Amino acid sequence: MELKTDFPLKAFNTFHVEAAAECYVRFDAENEIAEFLSRNPFGEQRHLVLGGGSNLLFVNDIAGIVLHPLLKGIRVAEADRRHIWIRAMAGENWDDLVAFAVASRCGGIENLSLIPGSVGASAVQNIGAYGVEVKDVIDSVEAISMESREKVIFSPLDCGFGYRSSHFKGLWANRFIITAVVFRLSRQPEFVLDYPGVKAAVEALGAIGLETIRQAIISIRQNKLPDPARVGNAGSFFKNPVIDGNTLNSLRRRFPDLPYFPQGEDQFKLPAGWLIERGGWKGKRAGRAAVHDRQALVLVNLGGATGREILELSEQVKGDVYDRFGIELEREVLVVPQPGCASCRREKYEHACQPSGMGGRVDGPLA
Ligand code: FAD
Ligand code: EPU
Repeated sequence: MELKTDFPLKAFNTFHVEAAAECYVRFDAENEIAEFLSRNPFGEQRHLVLGGGSNLLFVNDIAGIVLHPLLKGIRVAEADRRHIWIRAMAGENWDDLVAFAVASRCGGIENLSLIPGSVGASAVQNIGAYGVEVKDVIDSVEAISMESREKVIFSPLDCGFGYRSSHFKGLWANRFIITAVVFRLSRQPEFVLDYPGVKAAVEALGAIGLETIRQAIISIRQNKLPDPARVGNAGSFFKNPVIDGNTLNSLRRRFPDLPYFPQGEDQFKLPAGWLIERGGWKGKRAGRAAVHDRQALVLVNLGGATGREILELSEQVKGDVYDRFGIELEREVLVVPQPGCASCRREKYEHACQPSGMGGRVDGPLA
């Protein structure tokens, strides 16, 4: 364990914005967490649990404590004829786990190749890409309660998984530190190739298999998304909105070329990138922040931007989409600290009060 005060966080967020934590604690072992929490002087609300910082936007310094569980370890916990259970510690890099699974010939997460961040946050976010969401292979989530300091094991049903959401960032925000996740992967995987462009990209590499799928996904992502090691960003800044059939019909009367993806009964997902691009934002700069020129859903730090500049640009984009389409985009990125919230009247670091109207279940091609 290491504790530091006035700790710079620029290297710990993929937007690469400047911010400092009043206090920062790195945990290298599970037992250090409960021990530390029992004497934490900052109280319950003044925590931020940090993973790889790839879905956060710091807009101010952190008056409180940043808890960084850098617990390491990936191992096969159990196996039978059809499945392999892999237990990975929260501080492991997500893509290292995918590489391990593919090398072990276990299927289920190969479509989630190259998503930045940690194993712990994968369950918080219910990460998803190219037709797969991690909730479908999570067997259990191990966490330490901030209140009782006891270890709790959650089944996937407990976790309230939805599109880029879970109770860990909603109902239970700020209450648990995830320490490990167990994944149930398949020895005879059914490959998911329906997302537009994936099958062709895989076939261009050779026979369809775990390794070719992984390589195809990596190459699709590298062509479209900026590499956070070179250009600061946090992936999609907003979620794709989900609307009902009536709203879709009235939008399609005005915008006949609006793409949409059915998500179940009377639910349709719209590509937020299309809505943003349609407003002419793609590639647009605002000082040192910009909308990415190959993916309008991604905001980038061109170098030296502050979190507030990026947030300001995002608000302009959001306002324009609302004016144009009447759709309120919901942030995927967590702004930290959240300004005082009208409903809870507190500034918190993991905030449960984001609007939920655009959320929803997603299994379709945009998942
Ligand atoms: P952080 O950003 O550090 O934290 C995210 C949230 O999880 C915060 O609320 C934090 O408090 C909480 N948290 C983190 N660790 C723990 C823990 N151990 N216990 C409790 N709470 C914790 N996401 C996708 O779903 N699909 C994509 O395709 C995708 N592509 C991306 C591409 C790029 C280039 C980038 C930069 C991001 C992308 N993302 C994508 C977003 C991001 O990678 C994911 O949200 C990722 O899961 C965040 O992981 P992290 O460890 O960086 O979490
Ligand atoms: N589009 C545009 N212009 C753009 C970008 C997208 O018109 O600039 C439209 C196109 O119609 C395109 C469609 O949007 O066909 C979908 O684009 P893309 O395949 O790039 O996916 P996305 O919907 O923009 C979502 C996730 C990504 C995930 C990909 C692949 C969300 C918010 N984003 O993006 O996740 O990698 O699908 O599954 O759901 C993330 O969460 O950070 C993230 C990057």
